[in-house]
Amino acid sequence: MIPSIKNICCIGAGYVGGPTMSVFADRCPNIEVNVVDVNKERISLWNSSNLNDLPIYEPGLKEIISRCKGRNLNFSTDVKKYIQLADMIFISVNTPTKKKGIGAGQASDLKWVEACARQVAEFAKGYTIVVEKSTLPVKTAEVIKKILDSTQTSPDKKFDKSFDVLSNPEFLSEGSAINDLENPDRVLIGGENENAISALSNIYKNWIPANKILHTNIWSSELAKLTANAFLAQRISSINSISALCEATGADVREVARAIGTDSRIGSKFLDSGPGFGGSCFKKDILNLVYLSKYFGLPEVASFWEGVVKLNNWHQHRISELIVKKLFGTTSGKKICIFGFAFKANTNDTRESAAIKICKDLLEEGSILFIHDPKVDPKQIEKDLGIKQSVLNGEISNVEHLSKYEGNWFFTNKIIPATYEADALCFLTEWEEYSELDWNLISQKMRKPAWVFDSRSIVSAKEVKKAGLNLWRIGDSSY
Ligand code: UDX
Ligand code: ADP
Repeated sequence: MIPSIKNICCIGAGYVGGPTMSVFADRCPNIEVNVVDVNKERISLWNSSNLNDLPIYEPGLKEIISRCKGRNLNFSTDVKKYIQLADMIFISVNTPTKKKGIGAGQASDLKWVEACARQVAEFAKGYTIVVEKSTLPVKTAEVIKKILDSTQTSPDKKFDKSFDVLSNPEFLSEGSAINDLENPDRVLIGGENENAISALSNIYKNWIPANKILHTNIWSSELAKLTANAFLAQRISSINSISALCEATGADVREVARAIGTDSRIGSKFLDSGPGFGGSCFKKDILNLVYLSKYFGLPEVASFWEGVVKLNNWHQHRISELIVKKLFGTTSGKKICIFGFAFKANTNDTRESAAIKICKDLLEEGSILFIHDPKVDPKQIEKDLGIKQSVLNGEISNVEHLSKYEGNWFFTNKIIPATYEADALCFLTEWEEYSELDWNLISQKMRKPAWVFDSRSIVSAKEVKKAGLNLWRIGDSSY
C-alpha cells in the first residue's frame, strides 16, 4: 500500500532545506511541514516577524514564507518532537569536505548525516520514509540504512519502527531556487521500495507533471547528482581556460561562447566566463567523485575530474596576479574597490566564492580593499577573509591617512563614494546594479592611471573606455 504522507520533518534549515520545504508547504497545503535545526540563531531568523531578516536571501522566498508560516510551515529547534511526528523525514544537513583523516580534502564529512540518522533511529515512530536531500557521496544511503536498521533490532522495543531510505537529490541553484523548485527540469527519486517511491512522487505530483519525475535505483540517483554538478563545473572550467587563450590571441571569449553555444549538441547555457566557479556544491561534488574514483581503483578517472578543480584554482589566482601586474607590479598601499563578494548574483551565500581567494591574494600584497555587496553581511566577509574589517575615522574622502591600512579592508554600502581616489575597481559578482553605473562620475573620482577589472562582463565596456579609464575584461584583449 502506498503510504499517505501527512507530516514531514526536514532536518537542516539551510540553503537547501529552507527553500525546498517552503515550496513543499506552499504546494501541499494538506501536509504539515516542520523544518528543524540545531542552530538556534538560524531558526529564530526563520521565525522573525520581519521577513527581511530571513537567514537566506532568495528571490520569491519571502512571499512564500508569509503565505505558509503558521499555516502548515513551522521552523523549530525541537528535533525530537518533529521526528516523532513525521511520516517522512528529509535529511538536509551540511556535508562539507573532510578536513582531516582518511580522504581529507576530498571526501565529504558525513558526521552530520550520521548524527541525523542516529536521531531518526532513536525518535521515529512506526513506519518512516527517510529521504536524503543533502549532496552526498554514492553509497551514503547504505550508511543511513544500516544505522536505521540497527534500531529495529534493538532490545528495548518500545515502539515498532521500520524505515525505507530514498535518494532525492536537489538540483536547485541559488538565486533561482524558488523557480527551480516550482518548475524543475526533472525530479529524481532513487530507491528500492516502490511504495515509498510512489509516496514521494505523489507529493511532487501536486505541482509537477508525472513525466518529469524520474525513478532510478538509489546508486544511480546519488551518482547522477554528483555527475550533473561535475558536468556543469567542467563547462565553466572549459570556458575559463579558453578565456585565458582569448586574452593571449586576440579572440573574444563572449564571441567564442556564442559561436559554440549555437551548436545544439553543446547548448548555450553555462558558458559565461567569470572569476571561477564557487558555491557549496561544485568543488565538493567533484572532489567526492575524485575520492570515489581513487577508492574504486580508477586513478585516470580521478585525475580527469581533479583537473576541473585545478583549473578553477589557477584561474582565480590568474585574476589576482594580473591585477597586481597591471598596477605596475605592486598594489601595496593602493586602494582597490571590490564589487561583489557573493559567489554569484542574487544570493547572500559566499561559500567558495572566487572573491575570497582574490581578496586574500590582494590583501597579502598590501592592498587596501573597499568591499561592496548588496546582500552579503560584512560579518560573513570577516569570517571568510579571517581579518576584521577596519573602520574609517571620518570621511571616505579623507584618503591621506589610508596608507596605515595596508593589507586591511573596509565594507561599504555606497558604490560611488567608495571609488574616491581608488586605483582600481574589480567586479567579481554580476549584480545587476553594476551594469548601470555613471562612469563619467566615477572617472572623475578615481586616481589616475585608474583601472577597471571586469571578471563578469557586467559593466559597459564602451562607457568605461569613453570615461578615460583602463579596462581589463575577462577573455578579451581588445581594450
Ligand atoms: C549548483 C547547481 O547548478 C545546482 O543544480 C546544484 O543543486 C547546486 O550547485 P549553485 O551552486 O547554486 O548551483 O550555482 P550555479 O548557478 O550552478 O553557479 C555555480 C558557480 O558557477 C557560480 O560561482 C557561478 O557564478 C559560476 N558560473 C555559472 C559561471 O562562472 N559561469 C556560468 O556560465 C554559470
Ligand atoms: P545546505 O546548503 O546543504 O542547505 P547549510 O549549511 O546551509 O547547508 O545548512 C545545513 C543546516 O543543517 C545547518 O543550519 C546546520 O545547523 C543543520 N544541521 C546539521 N546537523 C544537524 C542535526 N544533526 N540536526 C539538526 N540540524 C542539523
